[in-house]
Amino acid sequence: MTPEIRELFDAAVAAQTNAHCPYSNYPVGAAIRTPTGAIYTGCNVENAAYPNGTCAEAGAIAAMVAAGQRSIAEIVTVTGGETPGTPCGGCRQRIREFASPESMIHATTNSGEILSSSMHDLLPASFGPEQLG
Ligand code: THU
Repeated sequence: MTPEIRELFDAAVAAQTNAHCPYSNYPVGAAIRTPTGAIYTGCNVENAAYPNGTCAEAGAIAAMVAAGQRSIAEIVTVTGGETPGTPCGGCRQRIREFASPESMIHATTNSGEILSSSMHDLLPASFGPEQLG
């Protein structure tokens, strides 16, 4: 893990400790770095009415946008379990809104296993803001 990825990993793990996941027991943290160097984090927030739960990536994106930023350079997610859980389909599209095809998404575990993919590899032939002119 490079020092840059490690910094995001540490931020994602800190957010993950606050995950509200009593139904899945699958805590997730996410940390976004913007081109300005700022870092925004989120965790999954589940709900007794199950479909109302939100993913860690969605929380981090909301924090980024609320702070006035709209560009994702790099993301680290950290999931419970033995192998890295890559972002769900909905979150791939949410990330796509603010990322470039070259933006890197690093899915990790708490033990430090890492699976790195570009935005393009996670969501090829994607639909994005450009389509709407
Ligand atoms: N989860 C995320 O936070 N991000 C993902 O990309 C995949 C899934 C959360 C949602 C739910 O709280 C738990 O993981 C199990 O699906």
